[in-house]
Amino acid sequence: MPPDPDDIVRLEQVTKIYTPAAKVEVPALRGVSFTIRRGEYVAIVGPSGSGKSTLLNILGCLDRPTSGTYWLDGRNVSELDDDALSDIRGQRIGFVFQSFNLIHTQTVLENLETPLFYQGLRAPQRHALALRLIEKVGLADRGRHFPHELSGGQQQRVAIARALANDPAVLLADEPTGNLDSQTGQMILGLLDQLNADGRTVIIVTHDLNVARHCHRYIEMRDGLIHTEPAA
Ligand SMILES: Nc1ncnc2c1ncn2[C@@H]1O[C@H](COP(=O)(O)OP(=O)(O)OP(=O)(O)O)[C@@H](O)[C@H]1O
Ligand SMILES: [Mg+2]
Repeated sequence: MPPDPDDIVRLEQVTKIYTPAAKVEVPALRGVSFTIRRGEYVAIVGPSGSGKSTLLNILGCLDRPTSGTYWLDGRNVSELDDDALSDIRGQRIGFVFQSFNLIHTQTVLENLETPLFYQGLRAPQRHALALRLIEKVGLADRGRHFPHELSGGQQQRVAIARALANDPAVLLADEPTGNLDSQTGQMILGLLDQLNADGRTVIIVTHDLNVARHCHRYIEMRDGLIHTEPAA
């Protein structure tokens, strides 16, 4: 059934079975169903190997389910080919990674302008939007610096600005504070809190309960399934 317009993400019985060279099938997701409403702030938590990254890769259109349906912003994206999936990724998803993943040979502004090129914006528009984004994360004075001239927290703020460049339907963050000290991590979480308060749908994968506590809802993975507390 197609989702309600306010359902930004809907998974129906999604499975993911890896068949690596060893030919031993690994059922990483074994039938996962949930809905995330527009503007929600959700943590995906669970022990190592429970399927969090597998789930995030599917949510971020980096990978397809083996079976089941994934609706992203009203569109069934579960059976798209690689090119279509990559288009959707560029248009609808913002990614923030543990290791920032900035381009080290480019300045902060160039890091922000590069993805805008692929959206077909002209140079003056790219520059203007990059300036707005960098201002939004409080680094307006660092545009001409290179990533290695910034602290880890500042680099992550640039990465968040870059993730917002395509005005994504969902912002996905995989352990966004994993490489930061706790105080800097709190600052990054404060920024994500702010983006969510402004209406952005934010999904964070983490095994850190201090991070998860910022979110308004948990999806807890266990052994490829969503874990629900047994009735008391
Ligand atoms: N490319 C792959 N090929 C084969 N098996 C894989 C592959 N990627 C993940 N798996 C397996 O799928 C299961 C889920 O892995 P996943 O990486 O999603 O866990 P995770 O919850 O992100 O763990 P962690 O907290 O350690 O990052 C694990 O058993 C893992 O070994
Ligand atoms: Mg993982």
